[in-house]
Amino acid sequence: MNQEIEAIKNQALSAIDQATSLDELKEVKIAHVGDRSPIARANQGLAQAPTDQRAELGKLIGTARSTINQRFEARERFLIAERDSRVLQEEKVDVTLPTARKPKGALHPLTILSNEISDLFVGLGYTVQEGPELEASWLNFDALNIPADHPARTMQDTFFIEPVDSGLVMRTHTSPVQARTMLENEPPIYVICPGRTYRADELDATHTPVFNQVEGLVVDKGITMAHLKGTLDHFAAKIFGPDVTTRIRPSFFPFTEPSAEVDFFYNGRWIEWGGCGMVNPKVLQACGIDSKIYSGFAFGMGLERTLMVRHGISDMHDIVEGDVRFSRQFGLGAR
Ligand code: DAH
Repeated sequence: MNQEIEAIKNQALSAIDQATSLDELKEVKIAHVGDRSPIARANQGLAQAPTDQRAELGKLIGTARSTINQRFEARERFLIAERDSRVLQEEKVDVTLPTARKPKGALHPLTILSNEISDLFVGLGYTVQEGPELEASWLNFDALNIPADHPARTMQDTFFIEPVDSGLVMRTHTSPVQARTMLENEPPIYVICPGRTYRADELDATHTPVFNQVEGLVVDKGITMAHLKGTLDHFAAKIFGPDVTTRIRPSFFPFTEPSAEVDFFYNGRWIEWGGCGMVNPKVLQACGIDSKIYSGFAFGMGLERTLMVRHGISDMHDIVEGDVRFSRQFGLGAR
């Protein structure tokens, strides 16, 4: 009997040792550890054993059984740990691998500023008007009362388009949008016209041959310079801060009469911002508007300069070069 128990135990132990997976161990459990295993059955058979041998046999079976159980539990712990570490290995994620993530772009700060200005004037009831960058020289100059011998027309300022008599230029300012608007619309006219403009300048810290302007035009009955000044003050306060005011100084532009330069007071000094004035009656007439009934004001300023002053940008190259690290500093522009 002793040998029989010993044999049952050894079979169970070697079966346990040979199980190489938890599935195999489950089979081994049924065959050698569970209620219908030989050792369990031997235990159940104790009742039939002769009374004088029962105690000793019981002890023998009990010891064998607990040896089997302990070996089984140890093997189970081992196989669970092995499986866990294998799963960890197989399901490992390398968080340092490059991903298909696309970096978010950023609106150019000039675009952000231009949108901001458009929004502010739309809030005043203006509409946004655009015109072509390749413009008829008649609209860029003649309609605006800029005569053929005006310095602005000479080669050093204007990009002319070949052939020489094409009648086309890269627009040197956004003012031709004024003429287009007046030719196509009846007053009352309230428009804001942001856009790209071109002049034959070298790129340096304060100049760029491709730049941006914003033009404002109002034509209505009874428009005076007081309306212009009030509008400029509102514009400056919205863009530079509530305490910023403007001043206008006498100047000359062919398309306005009277004309003025507009400055704004910022960080303790006056800064030149752009030009403005009452729309010259000659321009109203050239564009089919009765200057006896209607009057208007206009203004135009550079966006680069506005941006540079507002954000303390000292080098035009930063604005022009298109490095996204520059743009990102202004936020993504998702306004
Ligand atoms: N067009 C002018 C320029 O480019 C700026 C300007 C001056 C625009 C006076 C205006 C104005 O509308 O009234 O220098």
